[in-house]
Amino acid sequence: MSVIKPCLIFGLFLMLSCNSAKKEMSTGSISNFKSDLVLQKNVEKLKEVSQSLTNVDSFPRNVKKNKKDWDFVDAADWCSGFWPGTLWYAYESSGDKELLKEAQRFTNPLKIIAYTPALDHDIGFQLYCSYGNGYRLTGNEEYKKILLAAADTLATLYNPKAGTILSWPSQVGKFKHNTIIDNMMNLELLFWAAKNGGDQKLYDMAKSHAEKTMNYLVRKDSSIYHVGSFDQNTGEFLRGYTHQGYADESMWARGQGWGIYGFSMAYRETGDQAFLDTAIKLSEHYIKRLPKDGIPYWDFDDIKIPNAPKDASAAGVAACGLLELSQLVKDEKLKAKYINAATSYLEILSSKKYLSGNENQALLLHSTGHHPNNSEIDIPIIYADYYYMEALLRLKKINDAKS
Ligand code: GLY
Repeated sequence: MSVIKPCLIFGLFLMLSCNSAKKEMSTGSISNFKSDLVLQKNVEKLKEVSQSLTNVDSFPRNVKKNKKDWDFVDAADWCSGFWPGTLWYAYESSGDKELLKEAQRFTNPLKIIAYTPALDHDIGFQLYCSYGNGYRLTGNEEYKKILLAAADTLATLYNPKAGTILSWPSQVGKFKHNTIIDNMMNLELLFWAAKNGGDQKLYDMAKSHAEKTMNYLVRKDSSIYHVGSFDQNTGEFLRGYTHQGYADESMWARGQGWGIYGFSMAYRETGDQAFLDTAIKLSEHYIKRLPKDGIPYWDFDDIKIPNAPKDASAAGVAACGLLELSQLVKDEKLKAKYINAATSYLEILSSKKYLSGNENQALLLHSTGHHPNNSEIDIPIIYADYYYMEALLRLKKINDAKS
């Protein structure tokens, strides 16, 4: 037999197993995506990049077009917690003590945020991704103290009339008392604090915020307004807007992801069936409207689609949310559907098209930050890496529990 034949047969085998993996994914069984291997490679890269960074008061935020290295922001930026958070996930995944040191050295400079009057709701992203993961993994009592202070600081933005947190104090002139869908993510800090020695009112605030968001920001068709505007004095809901989406009534991809994740988490924390129903509705609508490759365009309604930029970060956020949801729904078919959907997005994100490899210091290419502002379009952004790593770890835990 010539050597060509075995090669052809092996090639055919690979083709068939890839095809059958794809088919299995859409029909509800397990793919052969090697997520552990991807996780390991990502960890190696994160360690190398982190050890090359000398200034701990600067946090990676994005990689500009045609550049290789991260651009940095200071602690006050809303994205400052994602880099230490990504390092915590790398440490969690590997147990590597050098990564623990890296995670700690980028977490510590963020302490000041917990004790500074709240600029906006982003305290949750900044501190729960950094100190929150750090406390979960180390039990460091100092971290706990800082997280409790951060929750109290975030709670100062709560307006009892509206029953929600004021997301952006700087935007009151335009949107009045505004509550954005992203803010759902930061309720986790309040729920956590209420369970860990903080005031029980933090739980009530978080629950009320989630209820108002569900009642006013989620539209009938199961898409979501980015911004809900309320009267500051009466708390009356005025109208929905967009800020980072294509149009007021369009479906901004990352916003839909924040909603899927946020309402799943709110159900986990409260047991309120309405939050679970909402998370399912949002997920079904998201999955139904995705383009073929499973990675959304930055906004589902941009009229330039298919010539519009993608948003890998939205895919990562949605994958985390769907994996969370898969552990909460009782129906086995739905559970499998959400695990398989998230697995398929992670597999695509881990392909050559989205993974940066040696191209630059980030893990993922092709995220879109604020399209209407013409900023951060189709480039690597730190929160894409953070949620991508989180989703890979979530998937690993689900798969490990099965075996
Ligand atoms: N929270 C801001 C964003 O999603 O871009």
